[in-house]
Amino acid sequence: MSLYAIGDLHLHFQSEVKARGQLTDPVWRGHEAKVRRNCARLVRPEDTLLLAGDHSWGRDLEACAKDMAFIEALPGRKVLLRGNHDMFWDAKKTASLNARFEGRLSFLQNNYFPYRDYALVGTKGYTFEGPFYLNRAGRITGWDEAEAAHAEKLVERELERLRASFEAARGDGYRKFIMFLHYPPTNILQRNSAFTDMAEAYGAEQVVYAHCHGARRFHDSIIGYMHGIRYRLVSGDYLNWEPTKLLD
Ligand SMILES: [Fe+2]
Ligand SMILES: [Fe+2]
Repeated sequence: MSLYAIGDLHLHFQSEVKARGQLTDPVWRGHEAKVRRNCARLVRPEDTLLLAGDHSWGRDLEACAKDMAFIEALPGRKVLLRGNHDMFWDAKKTASLNARFEGRLSFLQNNYFPYRDYALVGTKGYTFEGPFYLNRAGRITGWDEAEAAHAEKLVERELERLRASFEAARGDGYRKFIMFLHYPPTNILQRNSAFTDMAEAYGAEQVVYAHCHGARRFHDSIIGYMHGIRYRLVSGDYLNWEPTKLLD
């Protein structure tokens, strides 16, 4: 039994891709087939595959039915995290998604899913992504204050959801946690954040995130160990479409 993760599949079997620019890099060519092949090779039926958000470009459930069917057909138990592009997933309707896809797909938000003696906890998260103002040397000298203030509110809301997830698991007796975020835990100016603080406060063993794709973004946040917690980036193109094993 193993736990795997990958994120940012950005499937578009039905929908027009709005942000075509993002998907012009050769790494996206035939990426669906690579995901399918790598999952078939690695993930066994008894394993769990955590999909860390940005599943589909579809704007509602109907428009991503084929993308959902693709995910359902992957081996193992699939647990999905909400990404910023997942328009089909209304934040208030996670319970109804879980009811609708019961036994097929699990949606992680304000809840948790067990894996051995671990609880898989998580939420979309949020990270301030600018605009930043640069000087001629390319150094950041400031940023959009209004956007930064708005980002603070979104971070607060996501922290509440993350806390709800940890507390649900703790209430059921779980003491070991793997924490998932779609957004990176820190922005490009931070060394730590309220998300890393929460991971430390609850004693998460790993913090797993996606969202950073395109080689220029791979090192926007923490990769490796900080204060005893292992941080991992699992965006699909970073992993070259091969799910990474988090736990045996
Ligand atoms: Fe993405
Ligand atoms: Fe994203």
